[in-house]
Amino acid sequence: MNILVIGGGGREHAIIKKLKEDPRAERIFALPGNGGIAADAECAGVSATDIPGILAFARANAVDFAVVAPDDPLVLGAVDALEEAGIPCFGPRKNAAIIEGSKVFSKNLMEKYHIPTAACRIFGAPGEALAYVDECPLPAVVKADGLALGKGVLICETRESAREAVRSIMEDRIFGESGARVVIEEFLTGPEVSVLAFTDGTCVKPMVSSMDHKRALDGDRGLNTGGMGTVAPNPCYTEAVAARCMEEIFLPTIRAMKAEGRPFRGCLYFGLMLTPAGPKVIEYNCRFGDPETQVVLPLLEGSLLEIMLAVSQGRLADTPVRFRPGAACCVILASQGYPQKYDRGFPISLPETGPDEYIYIAGASERDGQLLTSGGRVLGAAAVASDLPGAVERAYALADRIHFDNAFCRRDIGRRALAAMKEGK
Ligand code: AMP
Ligand code: GLY
Repeated sequence: MNILVIGGGGREHAIIKKLKEDPRAERIFALPGNGGIAADAECAGVSATDIPGILAFARANAVDFAVVAPDDPLVLGAVDALEEAGIPCFGPRKNAAIIEGSKVFSKNLMEKYHIPTAACRIFGAPGEALAYVDECPLPAVVKADGLALGKGVLICETRESAREAVRSIMEDRIFGESGARVVIEEFLTGPEVSVLAFTDGTCVKPMVSSMDHKRALDGDRGLNTGGMGTVAPNPCYTEAVAARCMEEIFLPTIRAMKAEGRPFRGCLYFGLMLTPAGPKVIEYNCRFGDPETQVVLPLLEGSLLEIMLAVSQGRLADTPVRFRPGAACCVILASQGYPQKYDRGFPISLPETGPDEYIYIAGASERDGQLLTSGGRVLGAAAVASDLPGAVERAYALADRIHFDNAFCRRDIGRRALAAMKEGK
């Protein structure tokens, strides 16, 4: 089978490494991939959002199955285009990817189907939004409607900062057209949990839970990033919480999307907050999380390809989705300066990996056989062990064997999870 993976970050590297384990995978292509992914897949210089280019590549290379991983091509309709060309895909169609593409859509969906989430108001004009800001509860959470590279959420402690947020999103359009509408919502508290779930539109099978670390610096300080590290499972996500999420959130969401004529097939990401009033949805993503995937897939037992085929063929109910016991941790090595300005082009030296150790390349190019840094998040060092303390220790031991100039990482990935485990005992 010839498989095409759209995307070119650490998440896609993790997906490709897992797909490769299935003997049915003959050739794996990545568009655009990156210098590190090139060790595991044939990369070509077609952008993940160039849908005509992707179609032409798929036809020319006899692609049998495509996996569309990032949000942008999903929201643009890459799956629709590939399926119309007769190429089966893993990933939602455009009319279902809107669950991430528009926060106004997802908030309205949750309200209509009584799915627990933060109370909110939606505004299409800055004047009304600014008037509401004069009286809304604080802190207020101001969100741009559309995609904003994970930066479209502003938590505002004061009315002045909330006004500033509305003005910069709606008037200055710092996120472009994504800011034509805003959602202003209630500030929730509690531990955050990421749950990725396979769904074929009817059946939903959650994967092992995880915890992201979004801030750049230790102690959850510094700017928001795409994610500086992850652990799985998330100790706050007990069996009782999982059962409640299935009844109150996962199944109602899948049924709601189907009832709306927008069946969701692919990986649906539930960003949850475990509030004192129960689990609530903070956000939906229409895809695998990055870097959650880098800890979830190493724990997946059996063939990812088989599950993805089952999802695309509507037979997930008959396909087992199992995770091994134990835990995983992924530490992101980034370029000094990320998420703002940083230098690139530094040679990366990689160690040999042992069993249950993985290096997922996110931002690197290759020149004459040498990997060079090319992104803010350069790579993830991930490891699996029998328990969370062991996984954290192994991931850091691996990270410390990787070298490039200007590298930095958080030194406290997993610390909050380990503290939650101790409290739980
Ligand atoms: P998002 O881009 O939607 O994942 O939001 C980024 C982060 O903002 C989340 O991971 C939360 O930590 C925080 N956040 C978003 N919405 C809320 C909310 N209603 N209350 C508290 N924190 C929130
Ligand atoms: N790690 C969060 C995301 O993928 O959006």
